[in-house]
Amino acid sequence: MGKVLITGGAGYIGSHVVKRLLERGIETIVLDNLQTGHREAVVGGTCVQGDIGDERILQEIFAGHEIDSVIHMAADCLVGDSTKAPLKYFNNNVNKSLRLLGEMVERRVNKMVFSSSAAVYGNPSRVPIEEDSPALPINPYGETKLIFEKILESCKIAHGLQYISLRYFNAAGADPDGLIGEDHHPETHLIPTVLKALLRKGRRVPIFGTDYDTPDGTCIRDYIHIVDIADAHILALEALHAGEGCDIFNLGNGNGFSVQQIIQATSQVTGRTIPVMESQRRPGDPPVLIASSEKIRKRLGWIPQYGKLEEIIDTAWRWHRTHPHGFRSSVLKKGVGG
Ligand SMILES: NC(=O)c1ccc[n+]([C@@H]2O[C@H](COP(=O)([O-])OP(=O)(O)OC[C@H]3O[C@@H](n4cnc5c(N)ncnc54)[C@H](O)[C@@H]3O)[C@@H](O)[C@H]2O)c1
Repeated sequence: MGKVLITGGAGYIGSHVVKRLLERGIETIVLDNLQTGHREAVVGGTCVQGDIGDERILQEIFAGHEIDSVIHMAADCLVGDSTKAPLKYFNNNVNKSLRLLGEMVERRVNKMVFSSSAAVYGNPSRVPIEEDSPALPINPYGETKLIFEKILESCKIAHGLQYISLRYFNAAGADPDGLIGEDHHPETHLIPTVLKALLRKGRRVPIFGTDYDTPDGTCIRDYIHIVDIADAHILALEALHAGEGCDIFNLGNGNGFSVQQIIQATSQVTGRTIPVMESQRRPGDPPVLIASSEKIRKRLGWIPQYGKLEEIIDTAWRWHRTHPHGFRSSVLKKGVGG
């Protein structure tokens, strides 16, 4: 496998994908504007700070490196924010992403793994959700992911683009070596929110809705470990290199856990009581989102290594405990030490 360009490679998922690729001896180049990513999260390879919408940078990167495939992860990715600022989302996730695709077509780089999302399904009528379930997104973020999947399909027909779209469910956990982890501002994901509440006095975990039609009344989601996500990208790249054709796969554990179950499990793993606060439902939160991951297991041979919820929470806890201020922790520590 030749050099892989990873857009958004300094972000939470991207940095773990880069680490895993490097561990497999695959050369990487990251393009990230660092709007939410961290340079320190890129543990090796080449890292270029720049925007996927900047044609000059794209031309320099493709001209200067023998790139044979792209993992496209750069995006704006907050569901709630997308309902307030839809144009920002369509611009970054579609318009700017088109420039990347245009450069790939121009340079005849014809392999892409795309970070799609469970958000394309909206409110599913059946769970576990299979890939052929209707894609009916209920927010601009999900719309942008679905539109880009359609663009990829058109480019397959017109330009011979080979792509695999991975529809992630809830990414969670951290690198088991403890080097990198999740560091979002603001943090909207449940597990880091719970762990941060343990590290900062006075913080309580909001539970958005306790009257859903679920066994304990709280929403149920499918959590997948970040290393298992990263490994799926390697399998997807290998499948594209083997000429196995374009496809769309869900990436989830196939197990659902409620907000209450996450809080209980976190309490067990950390040995601490979690301070919670019951709040109103958030608009647009489906009660249950669980992936069927049968297709990726069968077709790509993907087997999650960190399927247990406790392992997911434990790796995340190790990262947050040792990096209470995220990637700034080491800088702050040095500052304190003089
Ligand atoms: N985290 C999840 O649970 C989840 C679930 C489904 C899908 N996804 C998708 O996975 C991808 C990565 O998500 P994440 O959680 O790691 O988010 P993240 O915000 O940590 O990472 C996104 C990265 O993209 C970079 N970026 C954004 N716009 C850019 C641009 N125009 N040019 C260059 N770099 C840009 C950011 O700086 C950041 O490093 C996204 O495409 C997201 O939509 C994530």
